[in-house]
Amino acid sequence: MNQPFGFYQNEIYFEGLGGVVPRFPFTYEELASRAEAALGPSLWSYVAGGAGDERTQRANASAFERWGLYPRMFVGAARRDLSVELFGVTLPSPLFMAPIGVLGLCAQDGHGDLATARAAARTGVPMVASTLTADPMEEVAAEFGSTPGFFQLYTPSDRELAESLVRRAEKAGFKAVVVTLDTWVTGWRPRDLSTANFPQLRGHCLANYTSDPIFRATLERTPEEDPRAAAGRWAQIFANPLTWDDLPWLRSLTQLPLIVKGICHPEDVRRAKDGGVDGVYCSNHGGRQANGGLPALDALPGVVEAADGLPVLFDSGIRTGADAVKAIALGATAVGVGRPYAYGLAVGGTDGVVHVLRSLLAEADLLMAVDGYPTLADLTPQSLQRVL
Ligand SMILES: Cc1cc2nc3c(=O)[nH]c(=O)nc-3n(C[C@H](O)[C@H](O)[C@H](O)COP(=O)(O)O)c2cc1C
Repeated sequence: MNQPFGFYQNEIYFEGLGGVVPRFPFTYEELASRAEAALGPSLWSYVAGGAGDERTQRANASAFERWGLYPRMFVGAARRDLSVELFGVTLPSPLFMAPIGVLGLCAQDGHGDLATARAAARTGVPMVASTLTADPMEEVAAEFGSTPGFFQLYTPSDRELAESLVRRAEKAGFKAVVVTLDTWVTGWRPRDLSTANFPQLRGHCLANYTSDPIFRATLERTPEEDPRAAAGRWAQIFANPLTWDDLPWLRSLTQLPLIVKGICHPEDVRRAKDGGVDGVYCSNHGGRQANGGLPALDALPGVVEAADGLPVLFDSGIRTGADAVKAIALGATAVGVGRPYAYGLAVGGTDGVVHVLRSLLAEADLLMAVDGYPTLADLTPQSLQRVL
């Protein structure tokens, strides 16, 4: 049988006996500061920054501090089972990598989506691959190994192109389609405004478009001949302010599980469920899109209640294994890590991402061991107490 996730610490301590000190940091703060140095100013502000004065972004992370997990004794949680059933597949843990549309640039070789997909293969932690990748989705999916991957769709205004992207995702072997609803327009991001930097407008991370026959057919010259015109065309078709009237069409696009991302209000959960989605994804985009909102964690219990058994994916503010455990206790089926793995990618490529994921999983596993929660089902809202 596989080693428990917590075994990562044994590896580190035993290597220490041989004089080996770990290459990568163990705190979020140190990881972020190493990533800042690795990424350089404008990419760093794009990845680390958020909307407005970033109050919502900070609140996402600090919301976890308001909950404490009760330790339970005499449980003998010598073995923990973190596995979860999601859309017909059994995953070794509830952790997944949230879609990040600039991963390509975060790796030193400019192929961060491939590096991340390799980390998914090595850890069993699924990657939700963004529409905005530096390499086409087929090449990203080819690196997943036996770990399932999900495709995140930014629905273009050109419906034919949307259909083409979904067809390609199906053919490439993605196991679900995640439609992001909160980003048809970019939120007001002071850090990016002050560097006047929007990577995609500069032609970065558009490989899924420039490799698409439908997209290419709309261009007078190929993207290779005229990359500026391709980026300009992308800017024209990227945004699609969907309404509920579009949900039947979205649903009709694929037989794959369909998940809608950016859902925080219970009423929206109920409508999405009525519209036939297979899962809802509670997230406020890490506070990058709208400032002044509530922390995503505070929206989670209402989403879970309204979902009434439908799987609930969650992200926004996960920084530690303990955070992931708390989100599970509040009812999330699966938990997305965002910025931390992008920082790991910047600092150490695939190895850096693997380190971040293994650290989160080890911490979660050891917390469940120490506090007496042998399975995810043992984690319930009653396991938590408000502490502030
Ligand atoms: C640099 C960056 C790029 C992102 N790109 C995408 C994207 O392409 N598609 C998407 O659905 N969400 C995107 N997100 C949002 C993440 O999927 C996730 O919701 C967010 O990172 C969670 O917040 P956290 O990283 O602070 O925990 C992006 C986030 C960051 C930080």
